[in-house]
Amino acid sequence: MVKFGIIGGTGFYKMEGLPVLEKKEITNEYGRTHVSVARYRDLKIAFVPRHGTSHSLPPHVINYRANIKAMKDIGVKYIMSTAAVGSLHMLLPPGELVLLSQFIDWTKGRISTFFDGEDPNFKHVDVTEPFSGLLRKKALKAAESSGIHIHPYGTYVSTEGPRFETPAEINMMRMIGGDVVGMTVVPEVVLANEAGIDYATVAVVTNYGAGMLPGGIYHEEVEGIFASARQRLEELLIGIFNAVAKE
Ligand code: HPA
Repeated sequence: MVKFGIIGGTGFYKMEGLPVLEKKEITNEYGRTHVSVARYRDLKIAFVPRHGTSHSLPPHVINYRANIKAMKDIGVKYIMSTAAVGSLHMLLPPGELVLLSQFIDWTKGRISTFFDGEDPNFKHVDVTEPFSGLLRKKALKAAESSGIHIHPYGTYVSTEGPRFETPAEINMMRMIGGDVVGMTVVPEVVLANEAGIDYATVAVVTNYGAGMLPGGIYHEEVEGIFASARQRLEELLIGIFNAVAKE
């Protein structure tokens, strides 16, 4: 069984520091997912690049259900994901890490549940604490012991994409209580909750929201900023799993 999983977002397409034990293609009732399993000491970590290995899957096309079900079926109990995000606050500049604590779902046309038909066992999943309290606690500790600075709370506004936002939308998102904006964490976090998997996200601020600075937002810029945080991020995720495994 592989107990730990990572879903890598924009800029994070494979585990760089760890040996890969196997690569699998997992097919389930929702579709197909490519998973590689890496090893850190005696831990096995499944890795899924959310956008594919070369950023070929746009946010609204990602098969979130196939990915979460594939993780569940190989035994994953804890998922850490990463997400590139735009900042909604001038005091939260590019390069900063944010441990997400809440989300606002502003997606429009996505299947965001495993319960999509008549089912006597369907449930209204509780998302009072959408991001795992255990993983968040371990993340803060692991960050502290590695000297990595991370913001302990952040509300993520999930948009449909794949376009970036208008400045008017960015203003609105700030007014309704958002801290960062991205295109993928919903429905992933919801599905993980439905599947009973502990799930948390480290967001990397790659840019200010549209209109907060002169000029536009470009994907290359987002990937460039993410790359500068990548090593810190990989170290942090491994530290989190190590702490969970010890408990
Ligand atoms: N908006 C939406 N998604 C993003 C952004 C953004 O500004 N930056 C990185 N992902």
